[in-house]
Order: sequence, then C-alpha cells, then structure tokens
Amino acid sequence: MDARYFNLPVQMFRLEQAPMSQSSLPRLGFIGAGRLARCLALSFSRAAYPVTAVASRSANSAVRLASQIEHCTAFDTPQQVVDAADIVFLAVPDDSIGSSAHTLRFDAAAAGAPGKALVHCSGASPVELLAPARAQGASIGGFHPLYLFSGELADSERIAGCSVTIEAEGALKEALTALAVALRCHPLTIPPGGRMLYHAAAHYAASFALCSLAECVALWRTLGFAEDDALRALLPMLAGTIETARDKGLPNALAGPVSRGDTGVVQKQLALLESLGGDHAALYGLLSRRAVELAERRANPPAAIDAISAAVEDSLSRSLNQAAAGASVK
Ligand SMILES: NC(=O)c1ccc[n+]([C@@H]2O[C@H](COP(=O)([O-])OP(=O)(O)OC[C@H]3O[C@@H](n4cnc5c(N)ncnc54)[C@H](OP(=O)(O)O)[C@@H]3O)[C@@H](O)[C@H]2O)c1
Repeated sequence: MDARYFNLPVQMFRLEQAPMSQSSLPRLGFIGAGRLARCLALSFSRAAYPVTAVASRSANSAVRLASQIEHCTAFDTPQQVVDAADIVFLAVPDDSIGSSAHTLRFDAAAAGAPGKALVHCSGASPVELLAPARAQGASIGGFHPLYLFSGELADSERIAGCSVTIEAEGALKEALTALAVALRCHPLTIPPGGRMLYHAAAHYAASFALCSLAECVALWRTLGFAEDDALRALLPMLAGTIETARDKGLPNALAGPVSRGDTGVVQKQLALLESLGGDHAALYGLLSRRAVELAERRANPPAAIDAISAAVEDSLSRSLNQAAAGASVK
C-alpha cells in the first residue's frame, strides 16, 4: 500500500482544530450509515478529515448522513464509495461484512488513488473477512470503538476518552491510530486471534450492565415500581459505583453484603430468589461468586468470606438446574 496518505503524525486532540490541510489527509468513505457511521463520519469531518463518500442499503440513510457533512456525496452503490475514498469503513451489520467485502473491486488505476484500505468496525468479526480486498492489493484492518452508539449527535462528544481497538499493519495502522486520536480516543491493541474473547468480555461493561439493571427493574416491578421510577433511583447509584471503581479499583469499590461479610443477608436473599423460581437465584449466585472473588482480593477480606462462598455454592448447585428450565419475571 502506498504510504503517502497514511504516514501521518498522531495529532488532533481538539476536534475544533484543523492542524493539517485536508489535502494531506486520507479521504474517508462509509458503506453503511447507521449508528456507528453517523458518529464516526461526523466526528472525522469535524476533525478536518475529508469524508467524501457514503452509501447504504437505503438511499435515504446515505443522503441523510451525507447532507450533514460538507463535500460528502451520497452514492447509490458501495462500489462508488470505494472509488471515491482512500480508507473505506464497512459499517454494516456484522453478518453482512463478508458478503459486502466480496462485492467490492479495488482497482487503484480506475480510482486514481495510490492505495486503498478497507476497514470494518466490528469487535467480534475477524479482519480476515476483508481478505477479498487484500487479494486485490488493498490494505485491510479493524477499527472497533469501545462505545455503545445511540445514533444521536451526542455520541460525537461522548466518545471522547473511550478506547478504539485497532488491528492493522504498517501505514494503515498509523492512519487508524491518527483517526482514533482525532476522536480523542485511546488506541488499543489486542493479540492476534483474541478478538472474539475480547468482544465477548466487553459485553459485561456495556449491554450486560443494562441486563443487570433490567433484572433489578423486573424484580422491583413485583413490588409495584414502574420502570422509569426504578431507573431514576438506580442510575445515580450505578454512576457513583463507576466513579468509585475508577478512583479505588474494583475490589475496594465493591459494596453490599458480600463486601461486609453479612452471611445471613446473602443466605436470605439467595433463599428468597430461589423461591421465586426461574433463573433469578442462579444469576444472583453467579454474580455473588464474582463478588466473593473481588472481596478476596482486598487487603483485608471479610472474615466470613468462606462461609459466604459456601452459601453461594450451595445455592448455585440447586438453582443452576432450575435456571435451565425457568423463565424470568416479566
Ligand atoms: N452500535 C454500536 O454501539 C457499535 C459499537 C461498536 C462497533 N459497532 C460495529 O459497527 C458496525 C455497524 O453497526 P451499527 O450499530 O452502526 O449498525 P446499524 O445501526 O444497524 O447500521 C447498519 C447500517 O448498515 C446499512 N446496511 C445494512 N446492510 C447493508 C448492506 N448489505 N450494504 C450496505 N449497507 C448496509 C444499514 O442501512 P439502512 O440505514 O439503509 O438500513 C445501516 O445504515 C457493526 O460491525 C458493529 O459491530 C457498533
């Protein structure tokens, strides 16, 4: 790949600044105009990168996104994006990455460009899905922001401070690193082959945090709480917990009966949840197992931690079988 566009210094911590002329920066294109593409395209453009082309499954999506970006054209086909950009982000659902990559032609002469790159933004899908582009001389890579995109404009500000996991080599790696910094994000690398485990684990800090809240909301609903009221009460507590974890680390941020060594409370809560049936006690038990592990990492674990662990394991041995058959409280 020609390094002309991509050997750029890491720069641009302030989105408002445009420290380089646009002509020295790679032209960026997007195939897919969904939640992630909307944020990245707008943010890169605000950081003075030329976002020149967008296409999507429906023309409406592409036109809507292109209309928000100066000098950006909404094209009818993904191939036109490849022809009009240097780095093309394939921002489509994961199941469509491989089939989309197969349809693209990287003819550098026809495109009038010295080099091309095709990049996807999935944390779970292998970069190898883009191999057809590499076989035609393009560079391929992964650019996975560790952020839950809502599709709203606020994403462009909220993404600052997040990390972006980059998988690429040589000049493209440098270019993607510069793009991550332009978003005011931290570039991150993972070992080869680690992508699926990395992504599966990251759910715990995003979607599964929501699932924990949903479990609380479901249980509180049996006490008469509406979801909105429950969330109004819970979200400040969650925000405070995150702040404490940031300040003190996970073991010292742990609160609740496991952290205090309140064996009786843990036993009674497990028994109550077992009596509800379904998978409530199993979920509580598995998370309590992790709480025990965190408490054990403290400089002074509670004296009752072994008794709590035994109560948790007892309950789990009963509830895990039941969980397989049980439904949650709706
Ligand atoms: N959302 C997140 O929080 C997040 C976070 C990190 C990474 N990612 C990754 O980012 C990628 C995109 O996810 P997303 O959440 O932005 O998805 P999304 O909101 O569902 O948007 C997908 C976009 O792709 C378009 N599309 C679907 N099939 C297509 C095809 N065959 N050809 C061209 N365009 C097609 C859709 O078109 P229409 O608009 O016309 O329907 C839509 O604009 C995925 O790989 C995902 O894993 C997402």
